[in-house]
Amino acid sequence: MPTPIVIAIDGTSASGKSTNAKLVARALGFVHVDTGAMYRTLAWYCLKHGVDVHNPRAVTAALRRWKTTLVCRDGHVYLLVDGYNPAREIRSAEVSAAVSHVAAIPAVRRWMKKKQRECIQFGNLVMEGRDIGTNVFPETEFKYYLDASPEERAKRRAAEGIQENLADRDRRDSQRAVAPLMVPLGARVINNSNLTPEQTSSLILEDIRRRLARKE
Ligand code: DC
Repeated sequence: MPTPIVIAIDGTSASGKSTNAKLVARALGFVHVDTGAMYRTLAWYCLKHGVDVHNPRAVTAALRRWKTTLVCRDGHVYLLVDGYNPAREIRSAEVSAAVSHVAAIPAVRRWMKKKQRECIQFGNLVMEGRDIGTNVFPETEFKYYLDASPEERAKRRAAEGIQENLADRDRRDSQRAVAPLMVPLGARVINNSNLTPEQTSSLILEDIRRRLARKE
């Protein structure tokens, strides 16, 4: 069996990663993986069990305790906790505020990288996150980095009914010591401030198809 293809989509918060990753995955028939949801699931678990997200030892101990399973349903990968998918809960303001603290802990990043690499058991992937092209699948040649102006990103979050401090989260994600958010070497950078999701995903798809055609 050929090695599965991994399309890495990284970028800042509210830069359109999820929307575009889903559009690209659907167009190619690949499986979609939202790695931010996996970090959010851990933050949710910590909040629910009274684990201090600012305490790396406590969070690392929680990682040893929780019982998780990776599943693929309808073309999306989910990290279940005790068989439960906290899809709605992980979008709360509390989880959004806590997540970049747990994501900065080195043991958490090692755990997540291993799980995220295990996703190739499900086939070809479109994986979105902050460190996919730099750290999780650095070997892939399909790397995309999305960004948009701070004003545009704030507008998108507000349209979703979500109020959050994007600048704070981006700063924490970019300045952490382990696997910080950065443009992967060789990535195609797309600023989509003035593009629709259809236009952005078309740019990504054209590039992927061109590269795949070169391999044939
Ligand atoms: O994409 P998102 O907003 O759901 O991501 C939630 C947080 O998880 C984000 O603030 C940073 C962290 N994250 C990360 O550090 N590495 C990833 N690959 C994905 C997300």
